[in-house]
Amino acid sequence: MYLHGTSRINSRGHLEIGGCDAVQLAADFGTPLYVYDEQLIRDNCRAYVEAFQQSGFAFQVAYASKAFCTMAMCKLVEEEGLSLDVVSGGELYTALKAGYPASRIHFHGNNKSPEELEMALDAGIGCFVADNFYELELLNHLAKERGKTAAILLRITPGVEAHTHEYISTGQQDSKFGFDLLSGQALQAIRNSLQAEALELLGVHCHIGSQIFETDGFVAAVGHIADFLLEVTQATGFTAKVVNLGGGYGIRYVEGDTPRRPEEYVKAITEAVRREFGSRNIPFPELWIEPGRSIVGESGTTLYTVGSVKEIPGVRKYVAVDGGMTDNLRPALYQAKYEAALANRMNEQSGELVSIAGKCCESGDMLIWDVALPPVRPGDILAVPCTGAYGYAMANNYNRIVRPAVVFVKDGSAELIVKRETLDDLIRLDRIPNRIQLQR
Ligand SMILES: Cc1ncc(COP(=O)(O)O)c(C=O)c1O
Repeated sequence: MYLHGTSRINSRGHLEIGGCDAVQLAADFGTPLYVYDEQLIRDNCRAYVEAFQQSGFAFQVAYASKAFCTMAMCKLVEEEGLSLDVVSGGELYTALKAGYPASRIHFHGNNKSPEELEMALDAGIGCFVADNFYELELLNHLAKERGKTAAILLRITPGVEAHTHEYISTGQQDSKFGFDLLSGQALQAIRNSLQAEALELLGVHCHIGSQIFETDGFVAAVGHIADFLLEVTQATGFTAKVVNLGGGYGIRYVEGDTPRRPEEYVKAITEAVRREFGSRNIPFPELWIEPGRSIVGESGTTLYTVGSVKEIPGVRKYVAVDGGMTDNLRPALYQAKYEAALANRMNEQSGELVSIAGKCCESGDMLIWDVALPPVRPGDILAVPCTGAYGYAMANNYNRIVRPAVVFVKDGSAELIVKRETLDDLIRLDRIPNRIQLQR
């Protein structure tokens, strides 16, 4: 198993993260447990900020909180000077309750409800990333009602789709998100925004994919955006103050994953903007990005306790843990791959290939197919690294399994940032109507 950030093997042969023994963490907080390496989160934030500082561009690095959104996380990114991207009233509420400054919040989403828009307007958030004509109209109306002006970016689909090693130019993109370029919707959206009394158009946004290793997709997107903005200026006289290139920067989940470092993505983007905007005589915009996974993904490790071990001779050995698709939906949702190790026996040789099964009543609830581990016994503590993004964020109560606790570890101290759910939490919102009470 690859050791990210401050993870190491300690003198007891145990996995240690942030100076804390993982076996002790499992004993103190129970399992499953999400353990976040706080220093690594901070280092990742700083890598993006420092790279932009060196580029000379005005910038905002907005943490995409969909990857992992809790009050402590919002406070941490505030401390690191990042802006915050939210996509729902729930994420917005979490950030506001944590005391995160509203003026640095950007609000995304392809179907923001009137209530969500009102909440964001009343809080005075920094920017709405408007996704469609319905939203433009609604937001303009709600802002006008309040005597406010809403700053907006328009999300456009730039005709570039990137995934891991490759990107493709897709022409008119078939996407539920944003205004597309080829049909002219994006230009129409610019015109509508400029005419809207209560909207202030800052510029445009695009997001080309996720878990992207190469920089060429971002560079291609910058080219498409520069072409579009030139057309916009010629047609309307509008010059964009802001260009937001979204998130999608890759991380190392398993051997063979080859992400770039944050500074390499930032360098490729800023150089492309210099080149593509410079050659078209378009003033340089302020650059915003929205990394999520690459801030928190490698920082999170999930600890499980091994329960049943079932061997089908000549077929497979199933090692079942006390969590599964309820705390990590990604393998079931899109066949995501992970590594694993026994946190209590890190120095033992890997003896056999086993498969890690979750405890849900679902054959597809398999966390890892085929991972080499030392002979596994019930009671072992299994560590799955790289679960920091879209793990807790997608956690659910399928089979009425409680959601795990979350701890931040740093310099030998562990702080609980989300308590483990209780059985009472599971029934807290349940009601039994009178008419289905037993009549005696
Ligand atoms: C608009 C937008 N921005 C940012 C992100 C964050 O992406 P990632 O976590 O891959 O960096 C996403 C992810 O879906 C997104 O849709």
